[in-house]
Amino acid sequence: MRDVAIIGVGMTRFGELWNQSIRDMFAEAALKAMENAGVEKLDALYVGAMSSGLYVYQEHIASVMADYIGQRGIPATRVESACASGGLSVKSAYLEVASGMSDIVLAGGVEKMWDADDGSFILATASDQEFEAFHGVTFPGLYAMMANAYMHQYGLTREELAQVPIKNHRHSVGNKNAQYAFEIDLKTVMNSAMVADPLRLMDCSPITDGAAAVILCPLDRAKEFTKNPIKIKGIGAATGPIALHDHKDVTRLDAVRLAAERAYKMAGAKPEDISFCEVHDCFSIAEIIVAEELGFFDYGKAGKAIAEGQATYGGKVVLNSSGGLKAKGHPVGATGVAQVIEAVEQLRGEAGKRQVPNIKLGMTQNMGGSGGSCVVHILEAV
Ligand code: COA
Repeated sequence: MRDVAIIGVGMTRFGELWNQSIRDMFAEAALKAMENAGVEKLDALYVGAMSSGLYVYQEHIASVMADYIGQRGIPATRVESACASGGLSVKSAYLEVASGMSDIVLAGGVEKMWDADDGSFILATASDQEFEAFHGVTFPGLYAMMANAYMHQYGLTREELAQVPIKNHRHSVGNKNAQYAFEIDLKTVMNSAMVADPLRLMDCSPITDGAAAVILCPLDRAKEFTKNPIKIKGIGAATGPIALHDHKDVTRLDAVRLAAERAYKMAGAKPEDISFCEVHDCFSIAEIIVAEELGFFDYGKAGKAIAEGQATYGGKVVLNSSGGLKAKGHPVGATGVAQVIEAVEQLRGEAGKRQVPNIKLGMTQNMGGSGGSCVVHILEAV
């Protein structure tokens, strides 16, 4: 297997993009990434998308996108793993380059969510249809059950839980691509509308349109294109139970732990080596459980640690410098790729006011459903 580097990145703004179709958004991100890498011709393309058929009635989107960005003829593959589709797109492109099959490969992700009438129903297709969605449980409800169990088991208070979105919104300020780049305080969280007790509007990632893309090539060719290639040092992917009731403990996310173990092993790294990570905070409780499964904090301790400032600048590890899914937005198929872009910008030293000092490794964690799938990447500047 060959070593693989990321040589270019590009994304749209995340938000309500009423003037762009799904192909317009993907083309904007893809062409920006190609320009950033200095490449005009791709050997292959991957696109992560959870549900383009239900959202905008367009399937067959890998061909649509290859054609629309002027790359007709190349092999193009759609990748689906619910909200982890973007992360899996990067992993698939990595394998295509590492295997020697192709040299210049685009890994992208896209979702156009605002056009749909029934977004909650579409998202719920990523849960267990028979035992969850059919009975009316959607993702806010599933994560609310996890939050209640965690608060009961570990004594986390509602006010401590609120510190996750407060931190992530603070990080998002100045991120020109973020959907909700503004600060919020405890009162804003506690007074926001109840969605699924105890989760309020400000605990939930929003509905978002957006696209993101990165360009991969063999590490030994990377310097032809860029002065600062970013090596993909470790990747781990895993599956977990699709239904929440099949988790042995609903305060745990086994797929995250397994994916992280695999990525750490491949990278030869430990949690103590990581000072920056983009994590999948689809709901505030998710960031807390994920931070424990990634090994940053002991079980039951992450909520209080985050509330005490251990997951921001000057703390143990900076989680979600971009603002995370909560403030940056969560166009489900694009999220995993956008997380990788934030890690690349951090490692290149291009993150501006969000820059994490002395960063050596960048990590991303992208998750599908209530832990049915997970992809973790560890990146390094070379
Ligand atoms: N953060 C900050 N502001 C938000 C927000 C968020 N997460 N979500 C919505 N808002 C704002 C909107 O801009 C809007 O403001 P306005 O009235 O000034 O225009 C207002 O709050 C109401 O927004 P709206 O989109 O109408 O709310 P909604 O009740 O239709 O939807 C949720 C809110 C939380 C139910 C919806 O965003 C949701 O389902 N989120 C979860 C998505 C999900 O499950 N993703 C997959 C994860 S596994």
